[in-house]
Amino acid sequence: MIVSTSILSADFLNLERDIKRLETAGADSIHIDIMDGVFVANPTWGPSTVKAIRQVTSLPLDVHLMIDKPERLIDDYLRTSADYIIIHPESTVYLRKTLLQVKNYGTKAGVAIKLETPIDIIRNCLDLVDIVLLLTCDEGFGGQTFHPFSIEKISQVAKWRSDQGLHFKIEVDGGINPETGRQCKDAGADILVAGSYIFNHELDRAIRALKEV
Ligand code: DX5
Ligand code: ZN
Repeated sequence: MIVSTSILSADFLNLERDIKRLETAGADSIHIDIMDGVFVANPTWGPSTVKAIRQVTSLPLDVHLMIDKPERLIDDYLRTSADYIIIHPESTVYLRKTLLQVKNYGTKAGVAIKLETPIDIIRNCLDLVDIVLLLTCDEGFGGQTFHPFSIEKISQVAKWRSDQGLHFKIEVDGGINPETGRQCKDAGADILVAGSYIFNHELDRAIRALKEV
């Protein structure tokens, strides 16, 4: 499994130190939750922080935009040189347009949905995406519990992928530990995002345990 480590659980005053620790511990990528306090509670960072993070690591940056009307700021996020920009259909009426803008810039595009959102909402953009991110807990905070009904959503998205001969990756985000990660893998997930599980354990052992689910 690919393990994308969420810095929502890192020390915000020591992001560089924690990112380097994750790198040494074997992280495959860095997951950055951008939250604006409008689309979701608990505001975090903006494009200048992503740009600064880009300067201190060569790991892929996975930017999960949980912001209202992402089209307003998409240019700023594209200029950060993040590798993946992931947006929510619940936050925009310009889903395909914004995904196309990301792709045309040469950045990998992703679509994410909240736990409560039925998956049909992403059905008509699957041809445009490199990643489908399924939130597997309620949005906004680290350290929450995985919701088992996510499993059915993963299986359905995996079925659409194979039925349509598409190649996007399925990323799961929220309450992921080796046990829930294994259930997600069995349902068709490829990438595990984890924050609190990793930071609450020895980083390298935790990352290894997730990779080996
Ligand atoms: C929640 C975020 C997650 C969060 C996951 O809105 O999208 O990326 O960091 O944290 P854990 O792994 O602690 O559930
Ligand atoms: Zn996230």
